Amino acid sequence: MKIAIIADPHIGTQKNNFVANWEICRAHVNAANVDFTVVLGDLTLDGANLTQDCIFARQSLAALEAPVLVLPGNHDIGDVSRQGRQPVNAERIKRWQQFFGSDRWVCDRIPGWRLIGVNSQLFETGLPEEEAQWQDIAAAFEQAGARKIALFTHMPLFLEHWDEEDRPYWTILGKARRRLRALMQESGAAIVSAHIHRTLFQSRPGEPLIVWAAASSFLARDESMPPQPGAALLGVSFLTFVADSMEVRFESVPGVETTYIEDYKGSIYPPPA
Ligand SMILES: [Fe+2]
Ligand SMILES: [Fe+2]
Repeated sequence: MKIAIIADPHIGTQKNNFVANWEICRAHVNAANVDFTVVLGDLTLDGANLTQDCIFARQSLAALEAPVLVLPGNHDIGDVSRQGRQPVNAERIKRWQQFFGSDRWVCDRIPGWRLIGVNSQLFETGLPEEEAQWQDIAAAFEQAGARKIALFTHMPLFLEHWDEEDRPYWTILGKARRRLRALMQESGAAIVSAHIHRTLFQSRPGEPLIVWAAASSFLARDESMPPQPGAALLGVSFLTFVADSMEVRFESVPGVETTYIEDYKGSIYPPPA
């Protein structure tokens, strides 16, 4: 079975800079004959604040021909940090659910695999929704049976290694990271994430595969980012599942315009704290 991942589309109504790239990537996926598509967060440019962006994004998703699974990112439902500009909260989660359904899912459509999609924006927020998600995650792992698990999350668990310092804007924080790692220990085969706008395929003995899916929208320059091992490529990612293995392919898509977020000089987003 083959699935597509479109990550970080950042499509908006007031700021529509990345809509053309999204449409090109969507057409590329529609032509690729996939079994289903995962949209891995930051679907909207500012769904965390603008209902209009959510309405537009939902209409836009409908033009994907294969079934779609969606997860929220920070620009869809807000940030983990309670001190941030847009903290995730009950109202933002509710808006997501209204337009896109659940903020997490379990998918057993691929023989031998269980895909577990989580809302990375809840971890270590202390919100009641966080505890409810942990219970769902524990059950999803417990009931996986012999299936291998691929964890899907907008934010990665780490940039360079499991024990790195906490960077609330960039990765899932340490306590939640260790808890997820413990769950992954037994049958966790892969962790697929977005958010960094870089691509990565990392295979280390005794560790789950680490996949960073290609963003469709824009890149960021090294100077604005913490050290990380990814490659700068915009486009679409494909995962092919054969028996108990998974192949990953990052594809540049003709017509996609490469721009860097810094070159918009704060007109899209204020710089991260
Ligand atoms: Fe993003
Ligand atoms: Fe993000």
